[in-house]
Amino acid sequence: MLKHHDKLERNSIILVIATAIVVSIGGIVEILPLFRIETTIEKVEGMRPYTPLELAGQNIYIREGCYLCHSQQIRALRDEVERYGHYSLAAESMYDHPFQWGSERQGPDLSRVGGKYSDEWHTAHLTDPRSVVPESIMPSYAFMKDRAVDLHDISDHLRTLKTLGVPYTDDMIAHAYDDAINQGRNDGDTSGLTARYGNKVFARSFDGQPNMVSEMNALIAYLQRLGNMVDFTKYNPDLDPRNLPDGAVKAKGEAKP
Ligand code: HEC
Repeated sequence: MLKHHDKLERNSIILVIATAIVVSIGGIVEILPLFRIETTIEKVEGMRPYTPLELAGQNIYIREGCYLCHSQQIRALRDEVERYGHYSLAAESMYDHPFQWGSERQGPDLSRVGGKYSDEWHTAHLTDPRSVVPESIMPSYAFMKDRAVDLHDISDHLRTLKTLGVPYTDDMIAHAYDDAINQGRNDGDTSGLTARYGNKVFARSFDGQPNMVSEMNALIAYLQRLGNMVDFTKYNPDLDPRNLPDGAVKAKGEAKP
């Protein structure tokens, strides 16, 4: 055996070929299962595709590069779980194309920010972060409040995501524009929206401007849905934010909405 190894180490061509074979075995073991990705993600109750308004919000999140400062992935480490809540499940980002895990944390992880603050808090924070968190270094996004959210191609977005495996129905695609407007105004009839997306849809004027569905409205609709589609209290009551030690979740002493 050692004699053969001697040959391998002295002959660079054989060494390169042997290295390539060993590395590709490792590669195949890692890559092949991903071709059957749908079988590697454990199904969990409660996940649904984003509504058109939430999707528009996610597009703004991507456009503004929020992912450059915020991750959306809670690792299964004790300090992370105590600060942010239950670690992220693969199923929770299965409808994200592209996924928003991020790699930087200039600001806190956002994967469970949904429901942590009120809509008013988010509106104030996005308009002027230092008005609610004096030491914040986050930029202001006040302009989003005056810009109507661009929904002209929202049906196409749903259609594209459908080709990537997100279970949007033809009915959802056909009604995407109306559903987005209905969700962002608090005077609309939302029965169609809940029939299509289920009861766990918040429909209201997220930025307090009922006459217009602004970019800020869409972004807050998205933020308020992050990480709370799966009811983790059913899985492990120890991870219910209400059972964690004081300060672990309510880091800034904010009241929960
Ligand atoms: C330059 C880095 C930076 C960028 C870009 C940025 N943020 Fe932040 N963000 C922060 C920092 C730092 C904090 C913590 C201080 C604070 O709450 O303002 C924060 C806090 C937050 C919080 C509160 C999180 C919590 O749990 O308290 C939310 C929500 C948020 N950001 C959303 C956004 C969104 C949406 C965008 C994109 C439109 C964005 N951020 C862009 C740095 C950034």
